[in-house]
Amino acid sequence: MKVTVVGAGNVGATCADVLAYREIANEVILLDIKEGVAEGKALDIWQKAPINLYDTRTIGSTNDYSKTAGSDVVVITSGLPRKPGMTRDDLIETNAGIVKSVTENVIQYSPDAIIIIVSNPLDVMTYQAHLTSNAPRTRVMGMAGILDTARYRAFLAEALNVSPKDIQAVLMGGHGDTMVPLPRYTTVGGIPVTELIDADQLDAIIQRTKTGGGELVKLMGTSAWYAPGSAAAQMVEAIVRDQKRVFPVCVKLEGEYGINDCYLGAPVILGKGGIEKIIELQLNEQEMADLKVSEGHVKEVMTVLDKLS
Ligand code: NAI
Ligand code: 2OP
Repeated sequence: MKVTVVGAGNVGATCADVLAYREIANEVILLDIKEGVAEGKALDIWQKAPINLYDTRTIGSTNDYSKTAGSDVVVITSGLPRKPGMTRDDLIETNAGIVKSVTENVIQYSPDAIIIIVSNPLDVMTYQAHLTSNAPRTRVMGMAGILDTARYRAFLAEALNVSPKDIQAVLMGGHGDTMVPLPRYTTVGGIPVTELIDADQLDAIIQRTKTGGGELVKLMGTSAWYAPGSAAAQMVEAIVRDQKRVFPVCVKLEGEYGINDCYLGAPVILGKGGIEKIIELQLNEQEMADLKVSEGHVKEVMTVLDKLS
């Protein structure tokens, strides 16, 4: 299997590293526009192979897409990250142009690739890649839900003093403050979380999850990369190993949840066909209302994108 990661910055390089050391692909191409950076990071990852004992070949490229030809999966992380005080939506003007040109190059050399977008604003950049590639919705998706649920699960694990491995959760909606964590679908070793934590503490964790990206931007002056890079790699793994994993993924909804023509986070089954099924939960009135608010927000940003082009 061949996987390309576009953008050799914090998230892209982390993703390539995870893909390599976990031997998720045989060949990983890391591409960036900054002269030499992708080559350098790919070489560094390759030189780690004899130490950490893996044989995935990692190759860097400065904007030469011929090296990406025939990729099975392409992860797009190129674009500006947030600085303190910025929202993800503030990135749209610059990142839309980057995601558009990168997608054009990607599909020229890998017309059948499954594309995973990471660049922000995530839901709308995934829409941009869908518009540019004209690929079916099964093959164009965004990474956010795995990261956002990981933050939620990590906060819960800390509060309950349990292993994060035992926390299962679903979260829906856009990748932003309107995301919709779903306590009714959160369990700890099979036990509903609501039996283990009081409502106020759970509310505080939900609030912290919604602003979890911003918390890290404030601390570091730029956005996170370890969890985002690993989350994107986990999606790649589900696809290349045909694992049929159930993950919240940014997917184009076409009637599911009564929502049309909008890229939004929803639980899906991820396998070698990409998005093999969108799972429709029986949301209650409040959950559905929250999802609608999130849809409204993403659609506003989609309109900004439409006006840019
Ligand atoms: P970074 O600044 O470390 O890396 C971005 C890289 O993209 C840079 O190396 C830059 O040279 C490269 N780049 C820019 N234009 C390019 C082009 N046309 N072709 C190829 N490469 C190009 O940023 P970082 O932290 O890696 O974040 C990347 C993106 O991912 C940002 O938009 C950020 O907001 C987003 N992000 C999304 C997350 C999510 O959950 N979906 C989580 C974390 C970050
Ligand atoms: C995050 O949630 C900024 O989207 C990025 O960390």
